[in-house]
Amino acid sequence: MKGVILAGGTGTRLLPLTRLINKHLLPVGEWPMICYGIEKLKEAGITDILLIISKQSAGLYTDFLGSGSDLGVRLTYKIQENAGGIAEALELARGYIVPGDRLVVLLGDNLFLESLKPFVDKFAEQPAGSARVLLKRVDDPERYGVPVFDPNHPELISYIEEKPKHPKSDFCVTGIYMYDDKVFEHIAVTKPSSRGELEITDVNNLYAGEGKLEYDILHGWWTDAGTFESLHAAAEQMKDTGPEKKP
Ligand code: G1P
Repeated sequence: MKGVILAGGTGTRLLPLTRLINKHLLPVGEWPMICYGIEKLKEAGITDILLIISKQSAGLYTDFLGSGSDLGVRLTYKIQENAGGIAEALELARGYIVPGDRLVVLLGDNLFLESLKPFVDKFAEQPAGSARVLLKRVDDPERYGVPVFDPNHPELISYIEEKPKHPKSDFCVTGIYMYDDKVFEHIAVTKPSSRGELEITDVNNLYAGEGKLEYDILHGWWTDAGTFESLHAAAEQMKDTGPEKKP
């Protein structure tokens, strides 16, 4: 199993700070945001990790993280040139993932406390060509991808609606996704959405349409730290975690 952390996003909701430094390097407690995702992958036994970063701050990533050896992982870096959506960024992992590999994909601004290990272990038992996403119950599902469950197969998601005005459940699809190399075939046939991006929700819906999208629910604290409010909440929640401080 390999890990991919998508950290190329520009962080417009965190301006002006993100004019200075990439969002995923902003401090969250004692560590830059990116370190928590690396630590979560490592905790799940995943030590080969691809970081997809932007040109902005690329040197800071390598200065701070280097090869990853200080953190006990092996890091590879790829540069995302365009802001073409999550699925377009994930496409950059194609050469890193060899046939038969499985990957856990994290959006670098998704911060959470729970260990991924049990979910990754379940995914490892799934048949080839299927996927798994993690859900979280939230108060504002309309801000996220929202799953609609299959009434006949409660372990499956029927489809996901991206930022629906009238959400059909109070769960959101978090930025924690598990795939095998089949994901690149799905990305290849995905078309840009109305906002001109290749949406990860469209990729996930290709799995869902085939009855191959399973899920787990995160019960611990989770946030997508894309705003100042969530960034501050994250600093408070994550303060006793991170690479050298285990919960
Ligand atoms: C993205 C996904 C959305 C998901 C969210 C989780 O949204 O498109 O489905 O619920 O990440 O953080 P975005 O952050 O691009 O608005």
